[in-house]
Amino acid sequence: MFPKTPPMGFNTWNTFGENISDEMIRQTADAMVEKGLQAAGYEYLVIDDCWSKRQRDPVTDKIVPDPVKFPNGMKAVSDYVHEKGLKFGMYSCVGVRTCADYPGSFDHEFLDAATFAEYGADYLKYDYCYRPDKTNGELLYRKMSMALKASGRDILLSACNWGCDDVHRWIRSTGAGLYRSTGDIIDNFVSFRDIFLSQLDNFVYSAPGCFNDMDMLTVGMYSRGNVGSTGCTDLEYRTQFSLWCMFGIPLMLGCDVRDINDVTLKLVTNPNLLRINQDIECRPPFIARECDNNRRNAYGRVLSDNELAIMFTNLSDDRDTSLWLPFENLGLPIASGKGLRVRDAFTGEDKGVFKEYMKQALEPHDCAVYIAQIVDV
Ligand code: GLA
Repeated sequence: MFPKTPPMGFNTWNTFGENISDEMIRQTADAMVEKGLQAAGYEYLVIDDCWSKRQRDPVTDKIVPDPVKFPNGMKAVSDYVHEKGLKFGMYSCVGVRTCADYPGSFDHEFLDAATFAEYGADYLKYDYCYRPDKTNGELLYRKMSMALKASGRDILLSACNWGCDDVHRWIRSTGAGLYRSTGDIIDNFVSFRDIFLSQLDNFVYSAPGCFNDMDMLTVGMYSRGNVGSTGCTDLEYRTQFSLWCMFGIPLMLGCDVRDINDVTLKLVTNPNLLRINQDIECRPPFIARECDNNRRNAYGRVLSDNELAIMFTNLSDDRDTSLWLPFENLGLPIASGKGLRVRDAFTGEDKGVFKEYMKQALEPHDCAVYIAQIVDV
């Protein structure tokens, strides 16, 4: 499966951890449709770790769904998700056990891929725990990719090796459609800031077919759930979502979408931010201005239809910041006689035409995102 733009959906891990069930998945599928998330592009509903029994079936050697959590089996859940017009995602691991100590797919790749295809899976998140020493991680991703292709179903492979073993150098060649490039996110500002900053040199590897995945969003969690931590403010969630959109990162919601609040819903369905994230050209952003060890930067990103995204960040705790971006840094010198007509991505408001430069004041942890068009000045 070759995703043309960053995959979008929901994953159970951040909020639910091991507390997953048939009922909770069905309710989530309902909510994704009723609240307009599906219409906004969130199409995958992915069940993460902890869905199976602790041991394989002794006769068939297959992984078996936990009969308490999923009393109707996985095909029934998958059918329900498909009836809603959504796509269904499963989870396994390259190692002998998953990260939460359930059976992994090591040495069972083809059997398990066939099982996921029987379930009607469209997506497989494939984790990296309990890999036997001296085995080759790259080869294990190649194996699962082949196994998924051999299953006869078009299943998107979502690699999750946390950026180890120079993954960005080889992952595209395996056939995976996205790859986790960092350790696990938890729901606080420092966690997502450091995840983002760690990837500044790697976005160039992200392109149609295989996207850099900085982990599921914590937007809207407000400290609740499995990776709850201290939570973030709404302003910080807006910065997280904006970074993920600006940098073309897969958008996998991690909050409980059944009771998502209006602020979060409005943010994650913002058409301008999603237009940037889903831009068909999938070009990497560039640093247009660097300040304070990349805490206070300006970024540019060439979009389709002659548009350009501009983002200012204040990822520092510094209150006294005003960021200055000369358009020369975007490749638009004053001598060109051109300037930028700019609209605010958060509000859609037309901010008018700027020439030569923009200046942006930002509170700590805040950001600004604009969509611009080149015009005569
Ligand atoms: C790893 C992954 C997480 C999640 C857990 C499940 O830590 O990075 O995203 O899938 O395993 O146990």
